[in-house]
Amino acid sequence: MERWAGRVAVVTGASSGIGEAIAVQLVKKGMVVVGVARRLEVLQKLSETLQSEPGKLYPLTADLTSEEDILSAFKWIESNLGRVDVMVNNAGIALKAGLVDGRTSYWRLILDTNVLALSICTREAVRVMRQRGVDDGHVIHINSMYGHYASTVADNEMYAASKHAVTALTEGLRRELVQLGSGIRVTVTTPLLTRASAPGSWTRRC
Ligand SMILES: NC(=O)c1ccc[n+]([C@@H]2O[C@H](COP(=O)([O-])OP(=O)(O)OC[C@H]3O[C@@H](n4cnc5c(N)ncnc54)[C@H](OP(=O)(O)O)[C@@H]3O)[C@@H](O)[C@H]2O)c1
Repeated sequence: MERWAGRVAVVTGASSGIGEAIAVQLVKKGMVVVGVARRLEVLQKLSETLQSEPGKLYPLTADLTSEEDILSAFKWIESNLGRVDVMVNNAGIALKAGLVDGRTSYWRLILDTNVLALSICTREAVRVMRQRGVDDGHVIHINSMYGHYASTVADNEMYAASKHAVTALTEGLRRELVQLGSGIRVTVTTPLLTRASAPGSWTRRC
């Protein structure tokens, strides 16, 4: 981890759950972390609890379903920190929305958050990584077992579809970066259990 100390990581959904845990660990390892979520006050409190750690957490508010918000966030990062080394696409939502009678607004929210926001953040992060001329960095997508298997939970199909998209997007990104001769790495990790249980994951480094 030493080589990442002082470098910049963007973590979406850093205000709770897995994203918060990732942000905390990266700050403890000395990284400069930009935590992105809608609840600024939660991020600010988290940042305060990390003040004695070797790294730093910058709280940044954005609604990831808004492209304008995402672009503003990356503008702030470029202006104030000048680089992105690690992009952790963690923010994700699951809403009960069946295929026979589900609400379109719920389907849209799931796809906007889990698929489009991840894609826009990735595109912007890779652009910033590449423009430094070093072409080095790491993009990490947080997936789900429902990104690999059919959903066994009722009314969960749109979430499963969004996570299957994450699987396809990971492989597609890997191929595009290889074709470009880029040194940027792509990882997909799949949490297996709920927060109440012991965490487990598998990681595929591309
Ligand atoms: N927990 C599990 O058991 C599990 C299992 C498999 C996969 N996963 C995946 O792991 C990731 C994290 O899950 P989690 O359970 O830790 O989630 P969580 O506790 O519900 O947290 C979700 C995070 O995403 C942020 N977020 C949601 N919508 C947003 C939006 N429109 N704009 C900005 N931020 C938004 C939330 O922040 P604000 O509310 O402050 O905006 C929050 O920080 C997700 O991709 C999920 O699919 C989780």
